[in-house]
Amino acid sequence: MKSRSTYLDASAKIFIIDDSYYNLDILSTILTESGYNVVAEMNSEIAFDQIIKCYPDLIILDVVMPKIDGFKLCEVLHLEPKTKDIPIIFMTALTDIEQKVKGLNLGAVDYITKPFQKEEILARIQVHLRIRQLNLELEEQKQQLEQRVQARTAELSQALENLKQTQLQLVQAEKISLIGQLVAGVAHEVNNPIGFIATNLYHAKNYVEDLVHLVQLYQHHFPQPGASIEKQIEEMDLQHVLEDLPKLVSSMKLGTDSVRGIMQSLRTFSRADGDTKKAVNIHEGLETTLMILQHRLKAKPNRSAIKVIKKYANLPLIKCYSGQLNQVFMNLLANAIDALEDSLMNRDQEAKNLQIHVCTSLDQERVIIQIADNGMGIPESKQNEIFQPFFTTKAEGKGTGLGLSICQQIIREQHGGTLECVSSPGEGTEFLITIPL
Ligand SMILES: Nc1ncnc2c1ncn2[C@@H]1O[C@H](COP(=O)(O)OP(=O)(O)OP(=O)(O)O)[C@@H](O)[C@H]1O
Ligand SMILES: [Mg+2]
Repeated sequence: MKSRSTYLDASAKIFIIDDSYYNLDILSTILTESGYNVVAEMNSEIAFDQIIKCYPDLIILDVVMPKIDGFKLCEVLHLEPKTKDIPIIFMTALTDIEQKVKGLNLGAVDYITKPFQKEEILARIQVHLRIRQLNLELEEQKQQLEQRVQARTAELSQALENLKQTQLQLVQAEKISLIGQLVAGVAHEVNNPIGFIATNLYHAKNYVEDLVHLVQLYQHHFPQPGASIEKQIEEMDLQHVLEDLPKLVSSMKLGTDSVRGIMQSLRTFSRADGDTKKAVNIHEGLETTLMILQHRLKAKPNRSAIKVIKKYANLPLIKCYSGQLNQVFMNLLANAIDALEDSLMNRDQEAKNLQIHVCTSLDQERVIIQIADNGMGIPESKQNEIFQPFFTTKAEGKGTGLGLSICQQIIREQHGGTLECVSSPGEGTEFLITIPL
């Protein structure tokens, strides 16, 4: 809105309408001599258009005029948004109380009486121009205030939104760290008894072998041990037991070795990072994560197993926060599995060869880790949005939409690397991590 307050008093524009040339002349002269910018009009029929055009600061209106009288014109001016706030002063005969009251009721701010009293007219006009000026300033301030309130409200809602997101990310990070602690605790507790069983199995295997050997020697030297022993030998199928027992012990040993491996992986996976980076083997992280996800990769009643094809380069140890990197691998691999499972909904389930490629490589100054699936891909329109916190296409309760935004944060902010996505809808998706050496 233009600021009019600066010129209002000095050279205010006053529009006078009166069908009497005599009155018009007197009033114009008084006002012009006092420095006002006067526009005079005798024809009330064209006055309205002129007022719109020249937008005066004050209007002085005669009451009695042919065709459109002052009251009518006042009504019309009050209905028009452009002119409704311009103050209107009526001119009436000194004695006509009724006209004065009607004019004021129609929204006029004041009246002046004929014959004109110069001092009184100037005083009244000055008062109303001043009020008009104050009103304009007030309006301007009101608008500025509204704008500021709007801007502030927008800032506050943005701040609130940011706060909500940070809070959720913190909750998510806290949950992950708690799960990590829990897993580490369980792995630690299981590790002792498993170690105990494994060590004892080693001795048990030797004892069993000795015992088997001893029984065989007995059989050799005492081929006829007597009826009750022979009966027992037959009932228990001694030959089978002697053959099976060492195998059984060996497979128990295999089983405990495997449980120990799993526990070791869990401990590696949930290792707390501390606040400094440590040099680690990235492949170990990938392998543990794949192992933890094993149950999701296996064949299901409705689909074949997901085949993981690995292509590992010869990598040096990489300085990083390995717990956080494992979290990234976990998110990307879990997303790939979800995408593969979703892709089955639209395709021939038997024919589909579900695959995840995990590939590492090295160029001069960075490590590159690629995780690609041949799932349903991401529509081009969504590719920009997937890294936004809370963007998810998954059912409620299944995805929070935080996975990729957390990955992005870990790779970019914590490791100074990049995380990019290349996807062909219908064919698959590849995520490409680079970490500077
Ligand atoms: N490999 C992929 N193939 C197809 N779409 C993907 C793939 N990875 C991510 N997306 C899309 O990106 C969205 C966001 O992924 P993100 O990991 O951030 O959240 P989410 O998996 O939906 O939920 P959360 O990981 O929090 O449980 C997914 O909902 C999915 O639409
Ligand atoms: Mg996810």
